[in-house]
Amino acid sequence: MLGKLLIATTNRGKVEEIRHMLQPLGIELVFPNKEIPVEEKGCSFLENAYLKARAYYEVFRVPSLGEDSGLVVPALDGYPGIYSSRFYSIEWGGVEPLEDGRDKANIRKLLKNMEKVSDRRAYFVSFMVICLENGGGLWSEGRCEGEILREPRGSGGFGYDPVFKPMGYEKSMAELSIDEKNLISHRGKALNNILKLLK
Ligand code: IMP
Repeated sequence: MLGKLLIATTNRGKVEEIRHMLQPLGIELVFPNKEIPVEEKGCSFLENAYLKARAYYEVFRVPSLGEDSGLVVPALDGYPGIYSSRFYSIEWGGVEPLEDGRDKANIRKLLKNMEKVSDRRAYFVSFMVICLENGGGLWSEGRCEGEILREPRGSGGFGYDPVFKPMGYEKSMAELSIDEKNLISHRGKALNNILKLLK
């Protein structure tokens, strides 16, 4: 396995979840002391995950884990998709004012666009890429299926968690503990898959 692994993100929600899952495994985690600007110009989650892992690897020269994730709603033609973090600001579906933070603006826009939508199925997806020191790399995917609620519920997690109800659960993702979320989440699954490859 690896000695050190740099987590190529400064997103606090993601950092907390990844730290919680990896720390018990004896991998020495490195968290970047500065944000490396990465333009997410890829047209897929996988490409964007690679761009992040590569950019951090080039600066820190430590095996680096990049992750790109988002919410996919088939009834909205796959949106928010790769635009999940800045969904509020794109033209598709109408620009939503940024009054009280990105997450709330994204959720408002999602619910507005789904007011008359009865097919509320959705999934979170996470792609991970590790750039290794020998120039090689690994990638994995994880998904979490569920549906979009009509109103936000709960205060845990981040992003779209308050309006996402995982399949088979009565709670929203934001009402689950971090351990419960990691067990079923797209990121938890992607991480398990990439750890199997590393081993
Ligand atoms: P990224 O930093 O470009 O990968 O942004 C991913 C975006 O997708 C986040 O800003 C959230 O809006 C959304 N997202 C990804 N994972 C989750 C999750 O676990 N819960 C809720 N929203 C998520």
